[in-house]
Amino acid sequence: MKMKELLLFLSCVLCVSADVLHEDISINGCSDSDGEYMYGLDGEEKAYADFNKKEMIYPQPPFMDHGTYPGAYEQAVANLQSCQQNLKIVRVGMKDFPPKHIAPSVMIYTRDEVEFGENNTLICHVTGFYPAPVNVSWTKNEQKVTGSSINTPYPNKDGSFRQTSRLDFTPQLGDIYRCAVEHLSLTEPLTKIYEVEASAHSDPGVGPSVFCGVGLTLGLVGVAAGTFFLVKGNECS
Ligand SMILES: *[C@@H]1O[C@H](CO)[C@@H](O)[C@H](O)[C@H]1NC(C)=O
Repeated sequence: MKMKELLLFLSCVLCVSADVLHEDISINGCSDSDGEYMYGLDGEEKAYADFNKKEMIYPQPPFMDHGTYPGAYEQAVANLQSCQQNLKIVRVGMKDFPPKHIAPSVMIYTRDEVEFGENNTLICHVTGFYPAPVNVSWTKNEQKVTGSSINTPYPNKDGSFRQTSRLDFTPQLGDIYRCAVEHLSLTEPLTKIYEVEASAHSDPGVGPSVFCGVGLTLGLVGVAAGTFFLVKGNECS
């Protein structure tokens, strides 16, 4: 009986894990002036073509042993050309496209919990827009900052897109960061503000050391008292 139950449970685990599929995706798209060629897996970019640098980019962190796709950049260029050619033909055939613009929604947050003076990354997550792409720019205390990065547009389940821009920063009390998102559907950039507030953690302060000191003292008092009674006890007997 016990064995049967165990088997049942095991087969259940198997059927659950069989449900978990991986989603491999390849995107090939263009506008008159721009294009995208990307491989993704489970919502992450594996590789994309950078048409300015003229090469494939593998955006994984350096500790990862990523695969490469020989010939992929040449394929990307060929696809871009045929995509732009097709675009012209389809545009004439459909007497231009009906305008379909969906505005993005924007979130701003930090990668790690904010500690003053500790390196961190600001993340501006833009999603739900159509068509791709968006432009994202950053300011710090109303001054333009450079050095941010952005990934290629990734499709959502509903056919809209998402993109994420990142900016490395060091939190200092009172600094105000702003990410501004430009999109075809917007007449002016959509902005989100991140303010480094006093609620962030500064260095741990005196709290823990006082706690440690009191704990240590109590421990020593305990040992002293124990020794005292031990000695007393021995004297009596
Ligand atoms: C993004 O910036 C480029 C270059 O400045 C510009 O040509 C393009 O129109 C911008 N795109 C959007 C959606 O605003």
